[in-house]
Amino acid sequence: MEYPTVPYRSLQVSRGERLEMAAHILEEMAQRRSVRHFSNREVPRELIETAILAASTAPSGAHMQPWTFVLVSDPEVKRRIRVAAEEEERENYEGGRLPPHWREDLARLGTTSDKPFLETAPWLVVIFEQRYGVRPDGSRQHHYYVKESVGIAAGMFIDALHRMGLATLTHTPSPMAFLRTLLNRPENERPFILFPIGYAAEDCEVPDLDRKSLGDVMIEVTDDDLGGV
Ligand SMILES: Cc1cc2nc3c(=O)[nH]c(=O)nc-3n(C[C@H](O)[C@H](O)[C@H](O)COP(=O)(O)O)c2cc1C
Repeated sequence: MEYPTVPYRSLQVSRGERLEMAAHILEEMAQRRSVRHFSNREVPRELIETAILAASTAPSGAHMQPWTFVLVSDPEVKRRIRVAAEEEERENYEGGRLPPHWREDLARLGTTSDKPFLETAPWLVVIFEQRYGVRPDGSRQHHYYVKESVGIAAGMFIDALHRMGLATLTHTPSPMAFLRTLLNRPENERPFILFPIGYAAEDCEVPDLDRKSLGDVMIEVTDDDLGGV
């Protein structure tokens, strides 16, 4: 079947520059941290919109782009999100809904049911996954690999914000279903991740965490290893 194409253009990087650029990319990405203490300093809307456009260049199953980015800066809506999120989180932390192993694993992060950043950060962006699409005639459009697609877009969003010098937190107040009703999203959408976005507070501290080494996360497999299987 005939289908329209355009020439592919790769980023132009010279051989010599490539290694230097790779080291720089790693250094920059390694500096990213999840921030839980925000300044209320204003962030131009254009930055957030540009980061959303950057995230929306993500690959997706059958190019369905099954995501909606819901933007909130209205203080009253932020307050309502905070109240609802803290209610769920109180049930998790104080009401015993979190199983003991989860509480133990979270201890080194110092997280609690208090989420003041949901009001302090100038912007909240909630990414919704679209379980299926809705065509103009109301019929359903199948969406493929929705979680994988939206997860990749979310990662690209985090990276875009970081490169702009902005801070964010990957926040999943669990369960998150309240966000669909609170933000008046349609039946086919499900909240995926809530991102408070802004500048880190001046005295912001983050947990002292190590990251896995290359040897911990990578294994090379050759034909020899497979023993001719
Ligand atoms: C899917 C996902 C959900 C997360 N949910 C929360 C959350 O609800 N609250 C929170 O404080 N941190 C949350 N985090 C942030 C992690 O705790 C954080 O990424 C991890 O501790 C590593 O720290 P770093 O992001 O600074 O490298 C989440 C991260 C991911 C990837």
